[in-house]
Amino acid sequence: MTQLQPQPASAPERTPSPALEAPLFEGLERRALDLVQDVMRTRRYSPGDVLFREFDPSDAVYVMRSGVVKLSKVDLAGHEKTLTLLRPPSVFGEMGVIGDYPRSASATAAGPVEVSLIFSDDFERLMAQFPALALNVNRMLADRLRSMDVESQILSYQDAQGRVAYVLLRLVRDGIASERDGVPLVRLTHQELANLAGTSRETVTRALKTLDHEGVIATKPKEILLVDVIGLEEILHDVR
Ligand code: CMP
Repeated sequence: MTQLQPQPASAPERTPSPALEAPLFEGLERRALDLVQDVMRTRRYSPGDVLFREFDPSDAVYVMRSGVVKLSKVDLAGHEKTLTLLRPPSVFGEMGVIGDYPRSASATAAGPVEVSLIFSDDFERLMAQFPALALNVNRMLADRLRSMDVESQILSYQDAQGRVAYVLLRLVRDGIASERDGVPLVRLTHQELANLAGTSRETVTRALKTLDHEGVIATKPKEILLVDVIGLEEILHDVR
């Protein structure tokens, strides 16, 4: 495998790309970061654009620069399941590239999105050349597996209220929720929440009503204010 070569030493000093702030590049030496920056290509997408579809061939790793990306799959019955919503400094698309597998999920722009792409050959060369990068990829996969274990446990034993509480809290944890006067605010439709919770829209609507009645959230059309985050956590962990 040919090694990637940095630009000549005489090249002018460059401003580091914001994409290099992703945890994927943490601890990498300057030379490695320069090489990453050399091979990265920026792409912009409009709301609703599909970055790639499940089962497409995998040709690049995506490093988020701005916006929100939805990762989703469609089950055999044709229902969409939203795996997660991502924002910077998230990285995705590494699973297909590493194993040379087709895409395991679809990626859609949920608003204007800017990403930096590292194409497969370059990514593989960089991993072979810089073990710190390969270690970070492993760490990222382990973190994902850990949170998927928690999620599958919660989604399998919790009732609708617990599932919806979990999804709302996860949106806050992942930085997808915004804020109003210091109160976390989720702006998703009941159908979008249902796709995240793996349940129906009707069930989400009922669960939100109950949570509202318990005083942990305040629902308005297209807005959910998480007025009592600790109360939501208590509901999730069945201590209330
Ligand atoms: P890849 O299979 O190449 O394309 C889809 C990407 O979505 C995948 O790589 C991962 O980066 C990401 N992905 C797949 N499943 C999950 C999940 N459950 N949670 C978070 N990200 C995921």
